[in-house]
Amino acid sequence: MGRIRTLVVGAEQALMRFPYGPDRLARVVTGSIVLFGPPGAGKGTQAARISSLTGKPQVSTGDMLRTAVATNSDLGMEAKEYMDAGLLVPDEVIIGLISQRLQQPDAKSGLLLDGYPRTIVQAESLEKIELVVAVISIEVPDDAIVRRIVGRRMDSETGQIYHVEFNPPPKEVADRVVQRKDDNEETVRSRLSAYHEQTAPLAEWYSDRGVLLRIDGDRGIDDVGDSIESVLLKLSGADA
Ligand code: AP5
Repeated sequence: MGRIRTLVVGAEQALMRFPYGPDRLARVVTGSIVLFGPPGAGKGTQAARISSLTGKPQVSTGDMLRTAVATNSDLGMEAKEYMDAGLLVPDEVIIGLISQRLQQPDAKSGLLLDGYPRTIVQAESLEKIELVVAVISIEVPDDAIVRRIVGRRMDSETGQIYHVEFNPPPKEVADRVVQRKDDNEETVRSRLSAYHEQTAPLAEWYSDRGVLLRIDGDRGIDDVGDSIESVLLKLSGADA
């Protein structure tokens, strides 16, 4: 019942913000969309489709931090020990990173925020500088998460995400896929604990603001993507 209410209230509020016609979704939905969910829920997997639907650039704090680690920047050195241990990077570090990103010209109509915010402090800070029009919560049970994370592989050239079982890389890519350092069973348990303790409470926080959209993520990749697309089209009025 609570879920349905959240969706209905969210849809009503969002409809007021998206009163536009079918062909204009990409250009006129102003404000940012948050991709929310536990590690391995499928945020990165779904991001490209949502980004092309809405025209919002995908910004993944995980990717930004991994780039910082790879280049040995001060930020990377600071973030690395937290990431390797499956802990959240301190709020002040990550808040500064996103605040700067939001000032770039392509963020004018909002961003697709993948993995941010992850704490109430981050959400409160974001609320002061950016309108969040929808929070897409991809919901997947913990036992499915571990299997997804341990089998994840990434194309070292393009960053494309695969899974050894659920979404195997094509032959020409198979030789160059890599596994993330934090994609092992031990670290994923810490990441899940951090999620349940620090991030999951944000669902209620955004539900109270009427923007939370719950999606059953425990289905095939295309089914999950179809549900997200249909919810976003409904919110924009573009399915009319
Ligand atoms: P980050 O990189 O954001 O990791 P995460 O949230 O743990 O999310 P993932 O990237 O692991 O999962 P995903 O939901 O994108 O799943 P994916 O699509 O890849 O963060 C890493 C670290 O950085 C954090 O631990 C923290 O230290 C730090 N950090 C980042 N942001 C922070 C913040 N805001 N504050 C503080 N610290 C922060 O899919 C996973 C696998 O499942 C893939 O193999 C995929 O092919 C497969 N898959 C996807 N969908 C399906 C499906 N429907 N069915 C079957 N398989 C599927």
